Amino acid sequence: MAHQKTFIMVKPDGVRRRLVGEVIARFEAKGLTLDRLEMVTPDEETAAVHYAEHRGKDFYFGLVDFVTSGPVVVMQWSGESAVSVARLMMGTTDPAAALPGTIRGDYGLDIQQNIVHGSDSPESAERELGIWFAS
Ligand code: RTP
Ligand code: MG
Repeated sequence: MAHQKTFIMVKPDGVRRRLVGEVIARFEAKGLTLDRLEMVTPDEETAAVHYAEHRGKDFYFGLVDFVTSGPVVVMQWSGESAVSVARLMMGTTDPAAALPGTIRGDYGLDIQQNIVHGSDSPESAERELGIWFAS
């Protein structure tokens, strides 16, 4: 594989539950590099662009409501195979099915409030980093 960048977000539930440090600690311990970090409360427009692939799905409006419900922590991480490594460490989308040892497997039960977002490909990472780190 190759050196990659990925976009990671601690979602509003993760911030409310004080899991920001836990998420960062896991990625740091793995050996990934934290390049950029910011705390923001997403506006509806940014959330809609970020989740454009899900427009039209039954969970879409609930998802946009959720992700705009409070501050999130947006980050760029890099390293060998950073995209797939981060996804593995996050666990599957539904925390009820995510393996123990993963972030979602260890800290969640709710399919929507699943603590963390991570890009699903290097192309998604480029797109998402451009949305959240525009400057
Ligand atoms: P993410 O994009 O946040 O990293 O999560 P993912 O790739 O594992 O999952 P994805 O299919 O992209 O879904 C995006 C987010 O939408 C919420 N969701 N709710 N059935 C539902 O109610 C449902 N399905 C998905 C989750 O917050 C999911 O992470
Ligand atoms: Mg996704």
